Amino acid sequence: MQKTLAAITGVYGYVPEYRLTNAELERMVDTTDEWILTRTGISERRILKGEGLATSDMVVEAVKGLLAKTGNTAGDIEMLIVATTTPDMQFPATANIACDKLGCNHILSYDISAACSGFLFALSTAAQFIESGKYKKVVVVGADKMSSIINYTDRATCVIFGDGAGAVMLEPSTDGNGIADAVLKSDGSGRHFLHQKAGGSLKPASHETVDNMEHTVYQEGKTVFKFAVKNMADAAEEIMLRNNLKSDDISWLVPHQANLRIIDATAERMGLSKEKVMINIQKYGNTTAGTIPLCLWEWEPQLKKGDNIVLAAFGGGFTWGATLVKWAYNG
Ligand code: UT7
Repeated sequence: MQKTLAAITGVYGYVPEYRLTNAELERMVDTTDEWILTRTGISERRILKGEGLATSDMVVEAVKGLLAKTGNTAGDIEMLIVATTTPDMQFPATANIACDKLGCNHILSYDISAACSGFLFALSTAAQFIESGKYKKVVVVGADKMSSIINYTDRATCVIFGDGAGAVMLEPSTDGNGIADAVLKSDGSGRHFLHQKAGGSLKPASHETVDNMEHTVYQEGKTVFKFAVKNMADAAEEIMLRNNLKSDDISWLVPHQANLRIIDATAERMGLSKEKVMINIQKYGNTTAGTIPLCLWEWEPQLKKGDNIVLAAFGGGFTWGATLVKWAYNG
C-alpha cells in the first residue's frame, strides 16, 4: 500500500446569475471591449447582486452542490477551509459563517488569506490533515465577492474582477493519486503593488478613507504583471523538474485566471499546447481564490484517473505557487 495522499473526490462551483459585460463597462468607464479583450482576454464576469448576499452565500451554494454530487450531507464534513480575500466580515471567519448556514457547526473551520493563491494554500493545508490520518473528509473552498472591493470608476481594475466560488472534497487515498506535491511561496514586499489601503489595523475605516475610495483594490498592474509572469512560470517549472515530469507527462495546466497573457506565458514555459490549458477567464474574469476550482468544475467530465494536473497561481502578497495533483477518478 502506498503512502496516504489527500485526493480530490469531487468538485463543484457556483457563479452568480448577473453578467457584467464589456459593453456595460464601456458605459461605466472610459474603456472598450477591444482593449479589455486584447489586454486581458475577458468578455464578461459574474456579479453577486442582492441585499444581504456575501461570500459565505456563494460558499454555501458551492458546498451544497458538492455534497449532493458526492453523496454526502453537511454532517459528513469534518473540516472546512475557505480561501478568500473578501470575507463577509473582518471577523469571524467566513468558513464559520458558512458552516452555520450549511448546518455543520462544531467542526474545525477557518479562512486562509492568500489572495489569488488562496485556493492552493488552502488545498495544501487541508491535505496535511488528511495525510496525518486525523481527518477523512475535508472541504476546501475558494470564494470571492470581488465586486464588494472594486472601485467601479477605476477602469484599470474594474474590468478585471468577478465573483464566484469553487469547492472540492478531499479524502484519503492509498492508490498513489491525490495532492502529490506543492511549491508555495510568498513575498510581503509585493504588498506595495497590490493591496486594499484601508479597513485593516493599519488604517481603520474613517470618513476620509471612504471618501478616498481606499476600501477598494489598489493595483499597479504593470508591475504585478511582470512578477506574475515570472513567478507563476518558475513555480510550474520547479514542480515539473522536481517530479521529473516532461511536457508530455502533463495532462492539464489549471492556471489562475488573472490575464490571458500570463496564462499563455506559463503554458509556454511548461511546453504545453493550448489544448491542455483550462481557460474560462473570458466568461468569469478574475474571481481571485475561485478561479482554479471553477476551472476544475468545468473540465471535470474530461479528467481521467491518474492524470497529472498542475495548478498554478499568483496573487496579492505577493503569493504564488504550483501544485501537482494526480487526479483520482474518471470525470
Ligand atoms: O490576480 C492576481 C494578480 N493580478 C494580476 O495578475 C494582474 C496583472 N496585471 C495585468 O493583468 C495588466 O497589467 C492589466 C490588465 C491590469 C493592465 O494591462 P497593461 O497592458 O499592463 O496596461 P497598463 O496598465 O500598462 O496600461 C496601458 C494603458 C494606459 O494608458 P496610457 O498611460 O498608455 O495612456 C492605461 O491608462 O491602458 C490604459 N488602460 C485602459 N484603457 C482602456 C488601463 N485600463 C484600461 C481600460 N480600458 N480598462
